[in-house]
Amino acid sequence: MAKKKKNSPYLAVALTLCVLAVGLAVAIAVLAISETALPPVAESSSQAVTEESDPSVEERSEEPSHGESFEPDISLPEESSEESIPEPLPEPEPGLGGEIPQLGSTREYESYIGLRYSVDLVQFEKYIDPADASEYLLLVSPKAPLGKDYVPDDLIYIEDMRAGRPSYYSYLREYAEKALEAFLDEAAMYGHGDIKVSNGYRSYSVQSTLFNNYLADERARHPDWTEERIYALVATYSNPPGTSEHQSGLCVDMHNQIDTNNTFDGTPAAIWLEENCYRFGFVLRYPADKQDVTGIKYESWHFRYVGRTAATEMHELGMCLEEYLEYKGLN
Ligand code: DAL
Ligand code: ZN
Repeated sequence: MAKKKKNSPYLAVALTLCVLAVGLAVAIAVLAISETALPPVAESSSQAVTEESDPSVEERSEEPSHGESFEPDISLPEESSEESIPEPLPEPEPGLGGEIPQLGSTREYESYIGLRYSVDLVQFEKYIDPADASEYLLLVSPKAPLGKDYVPDDLIYIEDMRAGRPSYYSYLREYAEKALEAFLDEAAMYGHGDIKVSNGYRSYSVQSTLFNNYLADERARHPDWTEERIYALVATYSNPPGTSEHQSGLCVDMHNQIDTNNTFDGTPAAIWLEENCYRFGFVLRYPADKQDVTGIKYESWHFRYVGRTAATEMHELGMCLEEYLEYKGLN
């Protein structure tokens, strides 16, 4: 009979210890492997992902360090950026050399000059930019008088007429008047809604009365002056009858002052009118630096309609009407 092997209690304990040791070693190994395979535990896992994947994060790293909030430069599409005062477009291509290209639409013109209209030009465009502009280049001056009986046949009432002015100052030729409406609408959108016309068309006889009144005023002021000297002085600010372009019905005096005088010079409204008139077919007829050519002292209020193409060329060339007509061979 086989002798029954008697298990030693010491052997059982040793075996148990071995098993436990192996199990412990395996557990440690597994733990070590899993530590290297798993990602680190982020405080906010979503933040970590965003910062790595959003390109704008790099831009933000360049934001000013002085605590100003950073506004990304987001340009809205043209159609959705309706503002009462539009941002200027980029500068136009360099100069014209005196000729502006044939610009068929408002959009083309706006791109060319680098500035957008605020007013809707649909009903005004044909007046601002007349198909046949030559008649609107009429020069009227002491060297180029009008006949005593000249009266334009298309005079209409001026919309933006100063209240209380006599009716004999309140008319303008149709194209000039319509272009003026758009011009003053635009001025109002830029904060100059108080500009009104004080003088439009003046007949030969009204100009005659005006001129004689000025002569009388200056005689009273300078009793020891000769008549010749008095006349020469008045002729620097008023044209003798038959030689004022007010008789052509193509010019207006406009301002936001109590009266037509030099208090308008240099005001925001005067500056705006001078800087923007060409876009509506007008020119400042008597600029400060052209008195030697026009014979007339600076008049910040007197604007002359010539049509947009000529006005834009004159603006770009820095020419007054006399210079421009000579330059174009039209005098
Ligand atoms: N005041 C302008 C020059 C005119 O009398 O025509
Ligand atoms: Zn005038």
